[in-house]
Amino acid sequence: MVRVKTFHTADIMQNASKVFKINDKEIAIVNFDNTYYAIDDLCSHSEASLSDGEVYNCKVECPLHGAEFDLTTGEALTLPATKPVKTYPVSIEDGYLFLEIDNNA
Ligand code: FES
Repeated sequence: MVRVKTFHTADIMQNASKVFKINDKEIAIVNFDNTYYAIDDLCSHSEASLSDGEVYNCKVECPLHGAEFDLTTGEALTLPATKPVKTYPVSIEDGYLFLEIDNNA
């Protein structure tokens, strides 16, 4: 695992998200009620960016077909998605968000 510095907390509006790119991977960092979560940006159903989705009730809704994903676990809560998306641990230090990412991510 590597620890990667990303955005300042002030860079992500409440109930919104921002994409962090690393090694060809795109991770959506989501601010839900000033708690931060990180999930793979690519929806597990098809080609859609979850960072473009609506954030509410600790979930993000895919903007393409409306599947909802749990921000804590990445679990697909509603169809048409059936597979989870990967989640990443987030920590805050000096106002910056850090992700724990597999070395080969
Ligand atoms: S692409 Fe996300 S639900 Fe279909």
